[in-house]
Amino acid sequence: MKNLTPFTDNSELKTKEIREILDSPEMQQSKGFVQHGRVSVYSHSVAVAEYSCRLARKLRLRVDFHSLIRGALLHDFFLYDWHDDWDLLHGFKHPRMALKNAGEQFSLNKTERNIIRKHMWPMTLINIPTCKEAWLVCIIDKYCSLLETLKIFKYQY
Ligand SMILES: [Fe+2]
Ligand SMILES: [Fe+2]
Repeated sequence: MKNLTPFTDNSELKTKEIREILDSPEMQQSKGFVQHGRVSVYSHSVAVAEYSCRLARKLRLRVDFHSLIRGALLHDFFLYDWHDDWDLLHGFKHPRMALKNAGEQFSLNKTERNIIRKHMWPMTLINIPTCKEAWLVCIIDKYCSLLETLKIFKYQY
């Protein structure tokens, strides 16, 4: 069982702008929505933020960690359990829905919008990530999703 403390070596990044997302009723509600395997949307989103930061540090990339975390936390802010009403187009549609929901709730910068809207590339053909932060989340989202589906990652944040 993976049981990581989110942003362990990023304590300076536990800012109120990050806490406002984690503590929002919608994010708390997403603890009850399944993402892959037995992992909730909330845990998946926190894991994507955590592992995106780790990869950025490993590659010594100069990125905006604050926006990276906020965008990663909100990348799947579509606010429903996609297993309830099976929709083949969920993969295509949810980035736009997540961006709309997140934009109504929080003040997003350009990098955060880029991360959310483009994280499903190449499925969403023309929405190619155009900043380092969006590329990180696009890659790490697939990595986490695969390991959650294979039940290798079972974290519960
Ligand atoms: Fe997604
Ligand atoms: Fe995701």
